[in-house]
Amino acid sequence: ADDVTDGTDVLANGVSLKAGRLKTSPIGDIVTDDSLPEAEDEDKLSIPVINIAGFSADGDDTSIRRRKIVSEITHACETWGIFQIINHGVPQQLVNDVRKQAHEFFSLPPEIKERIRVETQKLSESNNYHQQGFLRKPADPMNTSWREDLAYSSSWNKTKSMIERAWLDTSASTVETAHEYLKSKDDFGMKLLEILAEGLGLDSGFFLQNLCHVRTSEKPYYWRVNFYPPCQHTEQTIGIPPHTDPCILTLLSQRNVSGLQVMKGDRYVDVLPTPGALVVNVGDLLEAWSNGRFQSAVHRVVVSTKQERVSWAFLMFPPHSFVVEAPEQLIDDEHPHLFKPLNHVDMLRALYEGLQVALKSGDTRK
Ligand code: SIN
Ligand code: FE2
Repeated sequence: ADDVTDGTDVLANGVSLKAGRLKTSPIGDIVTDDSLPEAEDEDKLSIPVINIAGFSADGDDTSIRRRKIVSEITHACETWGIFQIINHGVPQQLVNDVRKQAHEFFSLPPEIKERIRVETQKLSESNNYHQQGFLRKPADPMNTSWREDLAYSSSWNKTKSMIERAWLDTSASTVETAHEYLKSKDDFGMKLLEILAEGLGLDSGFFLQNLCHVRTSEKPYYWRVNFYPPCQHTEQTIGIPPHTDPCILTLLSQRNVSGLQVMKGDRYVDVLPTPGALVVNVGDLLEAWSNGRFQSAVHRVVVSTKQERVSWAFLMFPPHSFVVEAPEQLIDDEHPHLFKPLNHVDMLRALYEGLQVALKSGDTRK
């Protein structure tokens, strides 16, 4: 039942299908990307910020507002694979509360965090506190994320014990806050999947009917709180190396410190923190499910010499047994299957075994 678990490490190590294809893994390569010429101010790229106020899930299909939202989001998935949403319905108070809890946790003395790391590792392989390279000795700058994180996956019960354990040493409030936050993000994710199905011309329930709810213990999900301390040697390290997310969708809250960047063409573009916004990433599974209509975005996180940064990523996966395959409505002579049918395990295997098992291969279909 813990298959998602393995993805956690894959993700933590920053390996991914596209990032690998782009040969961007070694830190040295990444840093030289920064020497690419900056876009002129007038054509500076910025990722779409979409306001979904007024979108009603059971609303009238003909409403102009609704159609505009569907078309903006669809276009963003086709062209960027990453965008920001405002008025998403996740209460700001909850976001602030979880932020406060995370801040208190990461501010604990290193020896307490180390004890928690050891204890939570015992609790579960996947639900635990990680310290990436910079706290390990000797640090390997070529294979290091400058980051601490709390990662949760699989069932709510495991997540709960993990949060309880991790936050026991802080004065921060309750595990209920985290649960509310998780539920609220999941509700928003469901709404978004409805919009995306409509945008592809499918029945609006197309994606939803294949996902069971996060409140049941069945539904795989993965939640990670990232903490990037300031770093004096930014030229030698990176918060998270370039990768794509291996899921359906990622919903991310970031604090008012920038660092997240997305690859667009031959350059990285900052995903600037926008007050109250959630960042949405198309994951590899959604790219395959949409037969490539939606694109997963290669992204990375750079660290700052002065400011710490905190972000919360919520990744949505289909149930383990589900096979992702583009629906017939998206297939015709001009749009043959681009991906072989794949389940979660296939995806993880591809990630682990490298890109030769990669998925853009109509001829591997049986
Ligand atoms: C991630 O890509 O998993 C984290 C992104 C971020 O910290 O903004
Ligand atoms: Fe990511």
